[in-house]
Order: sequence, then structure tokens, then C-alpha cells
Amino acid sequence: MSSAQPIPSDRVLVLDYGAQYSHLIARKVREQQVYAEIVPGDISAAEVAARAPRGLILSGGPASVYEPGAPSCAPGLFELGLPMLGICYGLQLMAHQLGGEVAGEGRREYGAAAIAWRNGSPLSVGLPARMPVWMSHGDTVRKLPDGFAVLASTDTCPVAAAGDPRRRMYGVQFHPEVTHTPDGPRLLANFVHDVCGCGSDWTLGSFIDGAVGRIREQVGDGRVLCALSGGVDSAVMAALVGKAVGGQLTCIFVDHGLLRADEADEVRATFGHYSGLELITVDARERFLKALAGVDDPEQKRKIIGREFITAFTEAQSHAGSFEFLAQGTIYPDVIESGSHSAATIKSHHNVGGLPEELGFALVEPLRWLFKDEVRRVGEELGLPSSLVWRQPFPGPGLAVRVLGEVTEDRLRMVRESDRILRHEVAAAGIERQIAQFFTVLAPVRSVGVMGDARTYAHPIIVRAVTTDDFMTASPARLPVEVLERIATRIVNEVRGVNRCLYDLSSKPPATIEWE
Ligand code: XMP
Repeated sequence: MSSAQPIPSDRVLVLDYGAQYSHLIARKVREQQVYAEIVPGDISAAEVAARAPRGLILSGGPASVYEPGAPSCAPGLFELGLPMLGICYGLQLMAHQLGGEVAGEGRREYGAAAIAWRNGSPLSVGLPARMPVWMSHGDTVRKLPDGFAVLASTDTCPVAAAGDPRRRMYGVQFHPEVTHTPDGPRLLANFVHDVCGCGSDWTLGSFIDGAVGRIREQVGDGRVLCALSGGVDSAVMAALVGKAVGGQLTCIFVDHGLLRADEADEVRATFGHYSGLELITVDARERFLKALAGVDDPEQKRKIIGREFITAFTEAQSHAGSFEFLAQGTIYPDVIESGSHSAATIKSHHNVGGLPEELGFALVEPLRWLFKDEVRRVGEELGLPSSLVWRQPFPGPGLAVRVLGEVTEDRLRMVRESDRILRHEVAAAGIERQIAQFFTVLAPVRSVGVMGDARTYAHPIIVRAVTTDDFMTASPARLPVEVLERIATRIVNEVRGVNRCLYDLSSKPPATIEWE
């Protein structure tokens, strides 16, 4: 059973036609303090009407409107009388379905361009007459439907923006949601506030108040259980549920021994003193190590950790009494992802704290509407320590996927100590927030080195640091050479059992961010 109760707010729906940028559109709209929700591109007109949005945004997408099987809008959508903004493919779809024409001239336009606005419209209020934008398209609109006029063009793209003010329908060929379109936020604000008439009621303060009310209403005087993992989502969830029904919440923290230095202590310290909630810590370090002994296959390691976690959690829960509710730190990207059919399994990702449905609880999922940056801001507002709120993503199986091959206590020590050095040096260089994720990995090979006058035969530590927006693709971070050298020197000198330090320069794809 899910806790999905409606968010009371003016909303716009983002119809997703397979764009890389759909999530970004929703996030950028929310930055304008308007709640945006992503829905499938072929959502029926009746379903749209039932959600009572104030407007629709049709996303971009990789298809061409004339392609067989190309995604399209459901019948009746254009007759709902709702304001619309088509972006890239969304504009082409509007043109095509409303009687215009789209041309695939084979001239792909990808990159920076400058548009010139030529007719005033509510969409362009306050925007510079000549505006830098980001283009990424193959097809373009050749003939506009009746009622539409061209609003902006570039040298190569005659219909860079168009609109039918009477029907409140607009479209842009460029991408207002990406940072390379610097005035994109203003354009989106014009659409959601002035064209759709949305207020500015999506604020995190109002979200917290609403969520507290919804949790109290859902839970009544029932008892709530949750798993803390050491990660941001479960911590913010527990703080929020704690604020709503503190005395009825029991948190279980399974210490599997695969966290980074100090993280387990920080979780205990933060929640040990939190407004009346009960914190149970399970010391399962030995149990996990035993289960992982002799196992070097990455997928098997992941499966063992998932299984052991559920067993340890269930045992602790059965000692803690009976509960009606399980609170989970599910966030909006998880909700979107589980609704989509993603491609081949590259890694069986799992979240510690993501427990199977068979446990039979009603779910409390107060963060299921939030993007990660919103979750962090809620955490800050609730007074969680910033070291916890700004924690980087950390895989559910923890350091076990950063010790390549078999996991032993000694190898975990080498990763933990080198990771601590890396974190310290990156922070000292003041570049922490510029790198999306950084960590160290131990390779199970050994090489010859020399220390003092003696020969060493020891492991290499690999430093991995990446920049990324969405963790789906990533580039190696360009750390200053002096910082890299300092990190390498300290790791080799201070971490027993390590005699080399390497920097991973691979992008994702073809590599992944984690090594296993
Ligand atoms: P990859 O290695 O697939 O990682 O490029 C992408 C992001 O996901 C994190 N990651 C995980 N997160 N459970 C998680 O919650 C997992 O099993 C898991 N494996 C990888 C990884 O740290 C990166 O941020």
C-alpha cells in the first residue's frame, strides 16, 4: 500500500516523450515555486483532466513525428483548453497534430545559438531581444498550424519559438531547461505564472507543513518503523516522520561495517538525540563479513548484502514489537524510474532501507514527490547536520563494491583510511562542491615498490572523482595536479598495505562510476 496522497498545490504536468531532459524541466519549474509532475507522453485527456493541472509542458524526445510508432499526444488533449508549452519535439508534435508541417532536413543543429524575438508575447516578457539558447534537434517546424505565429527565429531555424495566444499554446525549438540557455528560467516562469496563472505555493516550508499533516493523518496513533542507512534520503525521511509523530517512530540502523569512516557514529549521534524517537542499532559487522568471505563476484556480493540486510533488519524488528507502518526514503527519481522499463541490468542496485513488500506494512513515503536537491533543502530546514545533508551518493552495498574482489576487514580498512585522506585533501583544497562524487577503490592486485630501503609488494589504491548532473553519464573531474600529488603521497605513506595510487580517467559510459 502506498502513501501517495495528492500534494495540494497549483501544478503543471510535464508530458514525457523520452527526453533526456524531462526531469530537468520538472526541476526547473519547481525552482519557480510551482509543483511539476512528470507523466507519460501518451496520458489520456481524461487522466490529465482528473489531475487538474493549470498547464502542460510537452517535453523533447529523440523521435521524429513522422516515424512509424513515434510517440504522440492522446486524442482530446488539445481540446482540454489548457495552456501548453512544447519544447523541441513537443513543439513539433503540437505543430504536426494541429495541422502544421514538420521538416526533417537532415541538418542537425546541436549547440549554442542566438534567437531574435520578433513578436511580443507573454512568453518573452522581460527576455533580451537577442537571446542565447541551446539547440539540440534534427527536425524543425516548416508550417505552423492555423492561429500560430512565429515568435522567434535564428539564422538557421525560422521557427525557434511560436505561439497561438488565443489558445494559450506555445512552443520553443530550443531547450529552456538547460543551463546553457541562461534566460530559460525566466521563460519558464513566464509560462507557468503568466500564461498558466500558477501561484508560487511550492516552497519547502509549505511542503514540510503539508507533509507533517499528511503523515499524522495517515499514521493516526499507529507505530512506525524505519531503516536508517547513513544516506541522505533515509535521514531526511526519519527527521520528517520524527517531526510529525516522534514518539511513535522506531528507527533501526543496521551497522553492516561497510560505511565510511565516522559515518555510523554520525548517524547514531544525530538520531540518538532526536525528539523522542527510538533508535535501535544492530551491530551486524561480523555477520556481513562472514557472509562475504571467499566471495569475489560483484553481483554475488551485492545479492548477499541485500539478503543479509533484510535478515538483520527483520530480526531487530521482531524484537521491537509490532508496527503498522514502514517509513521509506523513496524519492521522486525512484518513483519515476520504477515506472519506466529501463534497459539491461548493469548492476543490481539496491538501497539499504529499500525493503521488500512482503514485510506487509503500509508504507509512509513522505519524500516521494521530491528531487534530490529538494530533499537536501528539507533536511537543512529540519536542522540535520550539513555533513549529512550534503553527503554524496553512496551505494547501498557500501564499501564492499569499492574493495574489488573478496571483502576482508583489512581491505576495508585500506579503503576507509584512503577515503578519509581523499576527503580531507579535497575539502582542504576547497573544491568539494565542484565534484559530484569522489572515493577510493582497492584493487586486488599487488605490485612491487620500495619504501625506505626495503622492497614492498602491496596493493594500489585508485582514486575516482567525477563530475555529473544526473549520475547517468559522468566525466572524470579535473583535479589540480598538486592536489592529486598530495593525495597520492599521503595515501601511499599513511595507509599500510598500499604502495601505489592511481587516478581513474574514464568517463561513464563506457565505464561506470563505481568499479563494481
Ligand atoms: P554506477 O556505478 O552505476 O553508479 O555508474 C551510479 C550512481 O549510483 C550509485 N550506486 C548505487 N546506489 N545502490 C545505490 O543506492 C546501489 O547498489 C548502487 N550502486 C551504485 C553510485 O555510487 C553512483 O552515484
